[in-house]
Amino acid sequence: MALRDVLIDELRDMYSAENQLVKALPKLAKGAKDATLKQLFSAHLEETKGHVERLKEVFAVLEKKPTGQHCNGMEGVIEEGKDALEKDEEGPSFDSGLVGAALRTEHYEIAGYEACIAMSKTLGLRDVVALLTANLAEEMAAAKKITAAAKPILQASARQPEEPQKPKTGKEKYSAAKSREDEKKAAPDLTKSRGKGTGSAVASLINRIGGQ
Ligand SMILES: [Fe+2]
Ligand SMILES: [Fe+2]
Repeated sequence: MALRDVLIDELRDMYSAENQLVKALPKLAKGAKDATLKQLFSAHLEETKGHVERLKEVFAVLEKKPTGQHCNGMEGVIEEGKDALEKDEEGPSFDSGLVGAALRTEHYEIAGYEACIAMSKTLGLRDVVALLTANLAEEMAAAKKITAAAKPILQASARQPEEPQKPKTGKEKYSAAKSREDEKKAAPDLTKSRGKGTGSAVASLINRIGGQ
């Protein structure tokens, strides 16, 4: 598959991701308790609509249609955002969860645009690079603004008294079981590396990745 085809696939993924966010961001804005956070999510919704428009321009330059690929990654990230919105936490602690979810979406987009820009540069697509760089700049600025707005929220959350443990919901129980499964599947490799005395499990993982 030529690089241009790979790029088009990646861009279609981004187009789907941005459209999914146009639907998801109003829910974050509605759910946020903190006024600054609420305002940031609403402002970024407007920017996100602009990202969809810029991507349409990219596809016009490439003479391709923007649809054709659903972004499973963003679907998963948004799903985690839904979990944060369902949490039974008070004010700042609830908002802290939304901050985590929002930052994940921004950094997922940042990674996608960085990859698409690198590919477009390689192909000498200057107009595409310019359009994608404009989107990337707004994603990076949004992540920075969210991090700045989060500071007082996290501090207030840290001061909140811990709540008594509530019984887990069915969804939480399922998630906990899956996380134990994740650990179990990684366990043989992690235990092996500890026995070698060569340092950490991290070193073993690096070796494995390097050897692939
Ligand atoms: Fe975006
Ligand atoms: Fe974004």
